[in-house]
Amino acid sequence: MKINVAILGATGYTGSELIRLIDGHPHFSLSHLGAHSQAGKTAGEVLPGLAAHVARMPLHASDTVIDESVELIFTALPHGAAAESVKQALDAGKRVVDLSADFRHKTSEVYQDAYQQTHPYPQLFEQAVYGLSEWAADDIAKSNLIANPGCYPTSVLLPLIPLLQSGFIDTDRIIIDSKSGTSGAGRSAKTNLLYCEINEGLAAYGLPRHRHAWEMEEWAEAFSSKAVNIRFVPHIIPMTRGMLSTLHLTGSNTDQWWSALENTYRHKPFVRILAEGQLPSTKQVAGSNRCDIGISILDEQNAVVVSCIDNLLKGASGQALQNANLMFNFNETLGLPCHAQWP
Ligand SMILES: NC(=O)c1ccc[n+]([C@@H]2O[C@H](COP(=O)([O-])OP(=O)(O)OC[C@H]3O[C@@H](n4cnc5c(N)ncnc54)[C@H](OP(=O)(O)O)[C@@H]3O)[C@@H](O)[C@H]2O)c1
Repeated sequence: MKINVAILGATGYTGSELIRLIDGHPHFSLSHLGAHSQAGKTAGEVLPGLAAHVARMPLHASDTVIDESVELIFTALPHGAAAESVKQALDAGKRVVDLSADFRHKTSEVYQDAYQQTHPYPQLFEQAVYGLSEWAADDIAKSNLIANPGCYPTSVLLPLIPLLQSGFIDTDRIIIDSKSGTSGAGRSAKTNLLYCEINEGLAAYGLPRHRHAWEMEEWAEAFSSKAVNIRFVPHIIPMTRGMLSTLHLTGSNTDQWWSALENTYRHKPFVRILAEGQLPSTKQVAGSNRCDIGISILDEQNAVVVSCIDNLLKGASGQALQNANLMFNFNETLGLPCHAQWP
């Protein structure tokens, strides 16, 4: 018996990646696909890459009642829109993995600061677990609502938390430079993402404070019990998927930083610490659910740490499925690619 699953926002980039993953999962079964402007069509009319058995599935409008047999719902919707669907799903007794930012913060004040909008259901914050899989597995297993982390925060928190916990890095001077492929901005049409506007170019955006800076600081502090000050500059680059974050860090005893990372993640299937001095590239994680992390020690006080993920896998749908596996006590790797597509 498989567990029936619904994906709301199935026509977007993260939703369609979830379709691909769930359809290959041994214990989950695609039962309901939800859409917004594309509702009423079949999945194959909107997502030409689907095989026939899924292409035939209808895309339901968001007010369609989801079948009782569905136990798990992924909400791959824009922030703001997701909160309502999450509330309805929880009221109907479903378990939810929300890929939006709507339940990633602990208070409505922080959400308001970061997203410049009032949250409709702040009372649900208490029951949401921030689903950074490697750091919250026990809580994820017990929860009905997982707030799946943002892509930039995932790429930053995985290397940063063990270094903060080691006590060696300066917490008031953490400088992060990140680059994302354009699928990070979703599938809806935007003028600045047109081929002519983005091809052969590189642009910083989101300053003075990108909304993911709040998420990084909040969860870096929660997992390390240290107050941190993060300066974060994201960039968009003309590639389809992939994310690279460079952390410029200062502190002491840099000769022990590689061990702090390696000891933390040695037994974690989706985080790989490269040999000291080796740096990762987006190519080597594309299509996988891995985060690869490299460190270059500059001197006794300074080091550069680089992490790479596929923004649609470990940065979104892959981590969402990893969390769903944890929620249902399956091996966390089930249905997830651990190797990159190569070349
Ligand atoms: N892209 C990434 O790399 C990434 C990474 C981490 C987290 N996320 C988060 O994941 C969520 C989905 O991102 P995405 O990139 O997949 O977005 P997307 O490609 O723009 O897809 C959005 C989906 O939501 C539906 N939708 C749009 N407006 C809606 C509304 N008002 N009510 C209900 N449904 C609506 C769309 O349906 P129609 O197509 O039918 O209109 C589509 O299925 C976002 O919250 C995003 O921040 C994205």
